Amino acid sequence: MNLTFRDELFQQAKDWVLEAGETIRNKIYDPLTISTKADRNDLVTTMDRNTEYFFMANIRKTYPDHFILSEEGYGDALEALDGTVWIIDPIDGTMNFVHQKRNFAISVGIYHDGIGEIGFIYDVMADVLYSAKRDEGAYKNHTVLPQLSMQKNIYESILGLNHFWLCDNRLVDEKVIQDLVKTVRGSRTYGSAALEFASVAEGIMDGYMTMDLAPWDIAAGIVIVNETGGRTTNAFGEPINLLQKNSVLTCNPAVQEKIINDYMEKGRK
Ligand code: IPD
Ligand code: CA
Ligand code: CA
Repeated sequence: MNLTFRDELFQQAKDWVLEAGETIRNKIYDPLTISTKADRNDLVTTMDRNTEYFFMANIRKTYPDHFILSEEGYGDALEALDGTVWIIDPIDGTMNFVHQKRNFAISVGIYHDGIGEIGFIYDVMADVLYSAKRDEGAYKNHTVLPQLSMQKNIYESILGLNHFWLCDNRLVDEKVIQDLVKTVRGSRTYGSAALEFASVAEGIMDGYMTMDLAPWDIAAGIVIVNETGGRTTNAFGEPINLLQKNSVLTCNPAVQEKIINDYMEKGRK
């Protein structure tokens, strides 16, 4: 992707992300229409749909040759990542949005021929924007994020993971996950994959591991984590395929191999 065009695209996408966030903030206490999707805890609201529609309408008008991969149905049915693809989760952390009115994010990744060029994760209520361009570093608002420490060891790490690893685990023996949780210093569950990626990029969490995430949950996060020296693979160290769901481990590289070799591979079902 031509770098001048990428700068323009970054600025345009940033403006739309901030505008969408402001709309959500202004309407945060408006009555919500809440529906369920795959199961009774898989929530979607009119705000999710309206926010995705806002991006879709703007992208189609301004960049008619770009593609969209997104959660709520306004995107394209893609079988490849050729060309420029916007990968959008209009609200990541809808359960938090509904119940807590905070701790949710807008996540927008822009890929060109399969390569992540631009990422935005906007913590809407905190008004904190994580952003990155490939090879140009990652930012938290206007502050550049430092490179992740290579001195980390697993005993002093904080790991993000959710209860599915312990109670509905299709991938790894639960006992191994229990050992991993006992080994690390602490574990956290924030309920927004995008914000958990942003926390890994910022180095306030050393890894985030989850069983089943869609492309829009992780596309922006991958770009941002890459820029602070982190690595993202599936939970067994294999490459992510952004055209399908994946297990995910995004991590400080100093602890990634240990998590995979000493725990995930050992307990793999
Ligand atoms: C969800 C959140 C959550 C993760 C789920 C995702 P949504 O996204 O990122 O933290 O555990 O797997 O589906 O549905 O709120 O956009
Ligand atoms: Ca999501
Ligand atoms: Ca969502």
